[in-house]
Amino acid sequence: MTAMKLCLDDLHLFGGPAAFENTLHVGRPNVGNRDRLFQRIDDLLDRRWLTNNGPYVLELERRIANLVGVKHCIATSNATVALEITIKAAELSGEVIVPSFTFVATAHALRWLGITPIFCDISPPSPNLDPRAVERAITPSTTGIVGVHVWGKPCDVDALDTIARRHHLKLIFDAAHAFGCTYHGRTIGQFGDAEVFSFHATKFLNSFEGGAIVTNDDALAAQARLMRNFGFAGYDDVVSVGTNGKMSEVCAAMGLTSLESMDEFIEVNEENYQHYRRELDGVRGIRLSPYDERERNNYHYVVVEVDESATGISRDLLQRILWAENVRARRYFYPGCHHVEPYRSDPRYAGVCLPNTDRLAARVLSLPTGTTVTKTMITKICEIMRLVTEHSADVNERVRARPETKRSFRDVVEMAAHGR
Ligand SMILES: Cc1ncc(COP(=O)(O)O)c(C=O)c1O
Repeated sequence: MTAMKLCLDDLHLFGGPAAFENTLHVGRPNVGNRDRLFQRIDDLLDRRWLTNNGPYVLELERRIANLVGVKHCIATSNATVALEITIKAAELSGEVIVPSFTFVATAHALRWLGITPIFCDISPPSPNLDPRAVERAITPSTTGIVGVHVWGKPCDVDALDTIARRHHLKLIFDAAHAFGCTYHGRTIGQFGDAEVFSFHATKFLNSFEGGAIVTNDDALAAQARLMRNFGFAGYDDVVSVGTNGKMSEVCAAMGLTSLESMDEFIEVNEENYQHYRRELDGVRGIRLSPYDERERNNYHYVVVEVDESATGISRDLLQRILWAENVRARRYFYPGCHHVEPYRSDPRYAGVCLPNTDRLAARVLSLPTGTTVTKTMITKICEIMRLVTEHSADVNERVRARPETKRSFRDVVEMAAHGR
């Protein structure tokens, strides 16, 4: 790390040295006890049982079901396949209501199955579905609602549940971000007809790649198990259409090892979040998205909202300044799903207007956290944000005067748009 950033000339965009030699990423994987992982990998190699419902997958499923407090856990190769399997097992069809403020996998899982995602707005300050907008979006073709607990912050589960019951709709939650979190003190994973976790490398708990369906519905769980394994009910006995959604043993070994470090990950994440909170206090126009301290949170996402009218600096310019310093802050989520293909050019979505989604998507910036990020790093990141907001007029003037900074901005946007 370089010395403090005291004036604008110290910023890399304006000729100073980058704040960090090594790039800081959002979602840099948390790695638990390596010895334990290698021991498990040795064991699975000795057993020569690499996939197909092996002992580690079964153990992971058992432990997750216990931890979440549900009857069934079905581990999968990733959360996208888990969503597809859940949507099919729940027999959704026609139209399904989803937020647009989510990772595109939520919408794509529906579309992949020939279902029309109906994008619905969020209710600020929550980044999640607005239940009143959901109810307004219901038509005779609606068969379900897929809520997303964005950044691990729970949806208004009770309101969505009431709506789903009143209209005889299935209710599924994309809980990709929410492993280890609670809603009204109850563990996320227990709600709706089923919930889906992601254990992708960038997630709070990772199994390299992976996911899980959790549910108390015996029939749905049985269907999901069949579908995960090509519809095989036993040797040579295919009883339904299916796909290959199996989790491998090495992924389960990583999942189990991560699970054992979960408390440590939460402790570090919470300390980082609190440190960001202190350091950003008083930085004009930068609002740290708060966690509800009454709940258990995994604190995996540190997200700020940039109010350009107060900072004088656009979110995209702030992102560009941070990237120049080797801080890969990310726009999670930007743009809303209804602004990307295939939805953007589908005439059925031409009239979709989601002002709260658009407003939040234009402001958010996700900052690096996790076990590889130290308090000193956080202080430095916040110092940069404070410096540029305090000198916003000067920053804008310098950017306007230097065409080469504009070129690098296009690169940043390109990379951000195509990365995750
Ligand atoms: C909200 C949400 N849903 C679904 C997914 C897909 O998860 P996976 O990468 O495990 O398929 C992600 C991954 O980033 C996500 O953020």
